[in-house]
Amino acid sequence: MQARTHSCGALRIEHVGQSVSLAGWVNRYRDHGGVIFIDLRDREGIIQIVFHPENKEAHDLANKLRDEDVVSIQGNCVKREEGMSNAKLPTGQVEVHAQRLEILNKSVTPPFRPDEADDVAEERRLQFRYIDLRRPRMQHIIKTRYQVSKIMREHLGSNGFYEIETPFLYKSTPEGAREFLVPSRLNPGEFYALPQSPQLFKQILMMSGFERYMQIVRCFRDEDPRADRQAEFTQLDLEMSFVDRDDVLNIIEGLVRRIWKEVLNVDVPNPIQRMGYAEAMDRFGSDRPDMRYGMELVNVGDIVGKTDFGVFKGTLAAGGLVKGICVPGGGDMPRSETDALAPWAKGFGAKGLAVTKVVAPDKLDTGIAKFMQPVAAELIARMGAKPGDLLCFAADNSKVVHKVLGELRQKMARDRGFIKEGDWKWLWVIDFPGYEFDAEEKRWVSLHHPFTSPRDQDFDKLETDPGAIIAKAYDLVLNGSELGGGSIRIHRPEMQARVFKLLGLSEEQAHAKFGFLLDALKHGAPPHGGIALGIDRVIMHLCNTTNIRDVIAFPKTQNGADMMTHAPSSVEEKQLRELHLRVVLPPKAPTEPKAPEAPKPKA
Ligand code: AMO
Ligand code: AMP
Repeated sequence: MQARTHSCGALRIEHVGQSVSLAGWVNRYRDHGGVIFIDLRDREGIIQIVFHPENKEAHDLANKLRDEDVVSIQGNCVKREEGMSNAKLPTGQVEVHAQRLEILNKSVTPPFRPDEADDVAEERRLQFRYIDLRRPRMQHIIKTRYQVSKIMREHLGSNGFYEIETPFLYKSTPEGAREFLVPSRLNPGEFYALPQSPQLFKQILMMSGFERYMQIVRCFRDEDPRADRQAEFTQLDLEMSFVDRDDVLNIIEGLVRRIWKEVLNVDVPNPIQRMGYAEAMDRFGSDRPDMRYGMELVNVGDIVGKTDFGVFKGTLAAGGLVKGICVPGGGDMPRSETDALAPWAKGFGAKGLAVTKVVAPDKLDTGIAKFMQPVAAELIARMGAKPGDLLCFAADNSKVVHKVLGELRQKMARDRGFIKEGDWKWLWVIDFPGYEFDAEEKRWVSLHHPFTSPRDQDFDKLETDPGAIIAKAYDLVLNGSELGGGSIRIHRPEMQARVFKLLGLSEEQAHAKFGFLLDALKHGAPPHGGIALGIDRVIMHLCNTTNIRDVIAFPKTQNGADMMTHAPSSVEEKQLRELHLRVVLPPKAPTEPKAPEAPKPKA
């Protein structure tokens, strides 16, 4: 194979007249009555190659070319004839007239062509991921991912962070998501767990005197994959000693500012807006509000309480809330759509959803209009509504009201096209509650994790009023999605022990699970804190996709399957014996479809 002089995507008008040597894949083959054209593709782009019949040897060989063959070509870079340039291709003003062709490897007929993969079912694309990944779009995403991890390492490196690796074979500490277990051959009956995050190791690294740690690290959580979740995902994880919250936020702001500027030439505001959790819930019904549109939640209890509408009055009498949102222009929604909202809301735990339309500054129509008419002018003014708008109300306890109206805001913004393309709304959500009472488990659980520090003034409430404790925790939110989260940690062993006690861990249990942490905290632990960003989610935003599988080279499907390698798979009896394991299948084997067998290559 002749050494390459250029990449396919590099050729421009200034290369005209040069003799070039290229290599790549046959992207498209066209025979125009004797003259053969192929589009040659490598990772940098596509160039048109022309084989003239006069050059018989190369032309005869070119006749045998098929999609996705791998070839090496020598020829001359020539300006395309007048009217023949292709404005869609960066190389579109030139072409290469081939003199020599070498077929480096033939391809069997591919199951789909990379440039048609958009129309191919995702499972099939994942099965033939090596072809899917040849698409320029996928090449761009994977390249962007690399570019971003490079910026992360550079930025944090120049701010004094060391990248330090932490173990994947870790100890099972069930808290949070379900873990992946790994049996230990050397210790029969014992298991490692794959880490959900390096949380405790990074804290121990602070106690080990490294002061600033970072890692681009795989995390494992055995939860059902969703559009923005994979069981195996990547974090930019970091931790810092002798810092307070703002030091951590500033480091991350500097980093995302650089990433968005270098990748998209977009300016991230300086500083990024901050909002307390309580305000976010009150105004947006969410701890990760999408700030690209309005439709804020408005408390109308004092107004609607004056009417005879039993649903609202009853809720208010029972100590509940009535809040509403105003959907601009929503008055044009047909009855079928507004009627569908109550059943939809029930899916989020609401008892219903009351709607009405604004027809004049003091007049409502349809839905609960007849009940609300006596307070119409006041209600319309409070909600900042105009004729033509739709008002939607939920009455319940605050948790349900916020959940359903928070979801409704998002649904309406999506359905009614309120989201502007290319709009970036950043937000730090701060001052999260520390603990929540889990009614099912009948115990307190930490909202973030048990190592997050309460505010200094709130430590006294650990035993008396845990629900009122505000934690030193923070989340970074972009366009309504949680990019990352972190906190200032507890660095005193007696405080950590009190938190474990609140969470229902006995001293023995705390010692069995986290003894190493409690011990390390006793040996000189600096104040410390940190954060982790979900890199997959960062790339989803940068590459404008809502599917996390698009940004991972080899992702898993919704069933947790790798369609290409057919993982997970059963193993041999001998392997199980070595691991001292026996498989006990559920009475009826799961019937969910597994990855299909690899098809035989077509000739
Ligand atoms: P947390 O659990 O909030 O914090 O995770 C941090 C970020 O990781 C991303 N993320 C995920 N991305 C894809 N798929 C998943 N299943 C998934 N789960 C989480 C999110 C999230 O914001 N150790 C703490 C961080 C700290 O306190 O420093 C932690 O892991 O973007
Ligand atoms: P009902 O009296 O149950 O027929 O409800 C009258 C209207 O109020 C319907 O549109 C219901 O969807 C709505 N509704 C019922 N319960 C609630 C609630 N808790 N919050 C808001 N709307 C409700």
